[in-house]
Amino acid sequence: MVEKGCLHSFIDAGDSMSEKIIAQIIGVSRYYGKGESRVTAVDRISISFGYGDMKVLVGPSGSGKSTLLHLLGCIDKPDTGRIILDGIDTTPMTLEQLAPLRLQKVGFVFQFFNLIPVLTAYENVELPLLFSGFDKAYIVDRVNHVLDMVGLGDRKRHYPRQMSGGQQQRVAIARALVANPVLVVADEPTANLDSKTGISILELLMDLNRNEGVTVIVSSHDTVVLDRISDVIHIMDGRLVELNET
Ligand SMILES: Nc1ncnc2c1ncn2[C@@H]1O[C@H](COP(=O)(O)OP(=O)(O)OP(=O)(O)O)[C@@H](O)[C@H]1O
Ligand SMILES: [Mg+2]
Repeated sequence: MVEKGCLHSFIDAGDSMSEKIIAQIIGVSRYYGKGESRVTAVDRISISFGYGDMKVLVGPSGSGKSTLLHLLGCIDKPDTGRIILDGIDTTPMTLEQLAPLRLQKVGFVFQFFNLIPVLTAYENVELPLLFSGFDKAYIVDRVNHVLDMVGLGDRKRHYPRQMSGGQQQRVAIARALVANPVLVVADEPTANLDSKTGISILELLMDLNRNEGVTVIVSSHDTVVLDRISDVIHIMDGRLVELNET
């Protein structure tokens, strides 16, 4: 269902098919640099993601995976085209105006975890909720719940430097989930982990998708991921080259 958000620019879904779409990327391009040194990182891509999808974006280094996921996750803005997230047209909104939408709807998992080193696991996960207006008791319950869910119940007071790579990535996933997002975007979530840890991180994301119905879009080069997610999107030189809907 398309949820009528409190933010402006609500787009009426129109028909029953579009009600199942969580994100629409329409003719989107993203350039870096100017003049002769301009790089087209994402080149006129159009793609839709449905509620409950679990998809993997695959392509060589420099093909535009991170750029596309940043656009999908509303942490960057396209130079051309439109992105409609959960029924809300983000086109006229600045990154600053997008912040509440991002906090409410999207959980982003970065390749290098992006945890804040001076904060504990608990505090890192709590951070997105501090701006949410929820009361303290709810926040305490919710942070403890997601940390337990990712198997870090006994690491809440640890700092990132006191945790393994896999544990830090679990904290990053807990932080991405804490605000109950409808969409989780994970940029190479297993790339910096050994294969056993990578499998457990991927299984965590797959369980979330299966059991909680969270839409999960990941990018990867990793066979750990490619062997387990059948719904693959290929990207090359900023363009989609194949789309396998299953
Ligand atoms: N901030 C930036 N400034 C200039 N060029 C950039 C910037 N970020 C990305 N690019 C360029 O845009 C293109 C796409 O980069 P992107 O990071 O999206 O690729 P990727 O598929 O995620 O690669 P990798 O697998 O190495 O992470 C590359 O040519 C890259 O050099
Ligand atoms: Mg990348």
